[in-house]
Amino acid sequence: MYAPDDRKPLTVPALAEAKRGGHRLAMLTAYDAGFARVFDESGADILLVGDSLGMVVQGHGSTLPVSVDDMVYHTAIVARGVRRSLLVADLPFQADATPERALEASTRLLQAGAQMVKLEGAGHKLEVIRFLVEREIPVCAHLGLTPQSVLRLGGYKVQGREDAVARRLREDAAAVAEAGATLLVLECVPSGLAEAITAAVVIPTIGIGAGPHCDGQVLVLHDFLGLHTGHRRPKFVKDFLGEGGSVAGAVKAYVAAVREGSFPGPEHSYE
Ligand code: KIV
Repeated sequence: MYAPDDRKPLTVPALAEAKRGGHRLAMLTAYDAGFARVFDESGADILLVGDSLGMVVQGHGSTLPVSVDDMVYHTAIVARGVRRSLLVADLPFQADATPERALEASTRLLQAGAQMVKLEGAGHKLEVIRFLVEREIPVCAHLGLTPQSVLRLGGYKVQGREDAVARRLREDAAAVAEAGATLLVLECVPSGLAEAITAAVVIPTIGIGAGPHCDGQVLVLHDFLGLHTGHRRPKFVKDFLGEGGSVAGAVKAYVAAVREGSFPGPEHSYE
């Protein structure tokens, strides 16, 4: 049984065990070996090489300009700092437009050191998830506010407040799990909806702006260290550097808060 203080590497099958055992998972984004090493050694369960790097590292206004080459480069350098944490890498915009493109990009990400790829949405992406999983590529799905859909959504807004959208998100969550995803990120959805989805799916949910009832939480490195990147600071962000006193201390405070369920609080959540 996976235990949160276990210093052995976290494996893909251990994610389901963590959910069954009620152990909340603490995930952070990382973009280079130095931060990855500190995050790994300080107890983060999962590291995500997010395409958020387009905004917080490269300085773009969205994640759309990020390329597969960018993701492979950052995944390779993060992987050098990782010993225990499970390493997930994002498929950037349109790298998952077809199953074949997704397979090619995912293969490069796994060969760079990732153990799982993350992709946004359901719909035609269900075929992509099935295609990858059948070819031994573990997949993390991402629903709710999907930043690669920013043009269609008209901005970075909470998703699922209307009944029809909430119903579709519940159906999409069931569908991505059925298609073979091992993990599900829920971004910017009301707490009650995230709670219902978490109870309904067998795979762990990882929330960001999705309330306290998910099976784990994720924060972007810059947000969790209180670094200002020129973008509006969302409600769900908490600066852990203040209470942690150092980067390692901040990670330990974050991991402890996620595990005991004290983060996120109501002030970080949407109704
Ligand atoms: O790209 C990213 O960092 C993400 C997280 C916000 C979940 O997708």
